[in-house]
Amino acid sequence: MIPCYLYALALSALTCFVAQARRIVAVGDLHGDLANSRKTFRMAGLIDDDDRWIGNDTVFVQTGDVLDRGTDTIALYDLLRKLRDEAPATGGEVIPLLGNHEVMNLIGDWRYVTRQEIDTFGSYEDRVKAFRLDGFLGEYLGELNMTAVVDGNVFCHGGIDINFAKLGVDTINSFVHEDMPVVVGQHKDPHGVFGEQGPTWYRGWALDKEPGVCEAVQQTLSILKADRMIIGHTPQLDGQILTRCDGKIIVIDIGLSWVYGGHAGALEIDGEKLTAIYKSGRVDLTPSRPPPFVHQELR
Ligand SMILES: *[C@@H]1O[C@H](CO)[C@@H](O)[C@H](O)[C@H]1NC(C)=O
Ligand SMILES: *[C@@H]1O[C@H](CO)[C@@H](O)[C@H](O)[C@H]1NC(C)=O
Repeated sequence: MIPCYLYALALSALTCFVAQARRIVAVGDLHGDLANSRKTFRMAGLIDDDDRWIGNDTVFVQTGDVLDRGTDTIALYDLLRKLRDEAPATGGEVIPLLGNHEVMNLIGDWRYVTRQEIDTFGSYEDRVKAFRLDGFLGEYLGELNMTAVVDGNVFCHGGIDINFAKLGVDTINSFVHEDMPVVVGQHKDPHGVFGEQGPTWYRGWALDKEPGVCEAVQQTLSILKADRMIIGHTPQLDGQILTRCDGKIIVIDIGLSWVYGGHAGALEIDGEKLTAIYKSGRVDLTPSRPPPFVHQELR
């Protein structure tokens, strides 16, 4: 692709932006429900009836919490790994991120694990082995990032607060990989990235009151040089994607798992156009007041 600044020399910034935008699909917490996950991925044009990637050059981000509460842990990680392998052949990309439940299982906190789910591993001991950093799931999960930025869109499970924003996304991800063995070994979390204020647990952007929260959101996005942040973690029990602060915060945990009511739905980002994809159809979520495009110079 021609670098953005070359376009900018001859053409308007808008043309440059249009040339760069990729279709992004984001799906929040899956919590052990394979059937509703497949339904959602199909609705969003990511997979066919045989679970093969048909998303072309779509970037598919899954913001973590694939497991716990439900039973389909192994099948869901198998599917996500398969799609991540298949997508690049058509220019697509699958970006799975860590949620707090992935981290809980890596550190041996099985509070939300069901008996039926343990049975899918064989035995309790088999499950313990699977989540070690050299086990078949631990090895995969230990490589995942906590946050990702795609074309000015920041994704993470819980939210990046203003202090973590100052570290920047790349440093957060490096700390995750540096500190993971320490935390898994039951030692103190050196930089707090796995803690309550960290990107997998933080709930401020989902719960703090508007309009007060919006100024802090804007400051945080300016630090991150991003247009918006897309998060899961805080379930929307009406099954609807929540947009806050003129679309600068988008909460995509719609309670997909049957445990939360089994709502199917995904967020689609196409340039500045935001769309919710539900069983009942597509809903335009594009804010009437556009974001200030703080990262425009980076495009
Ligand atoms: C993928 O490309 C095909 C052929 O151009 C098109 O029909 C289909 O709608 C595209 N799917 C997505 C998800 O963009
Ligand atoms: C994790 O993020 C870093 C940048 O923050 C990136 O270089 C790396 O490729 C990412 N890893 C994966 C597995 O996506």
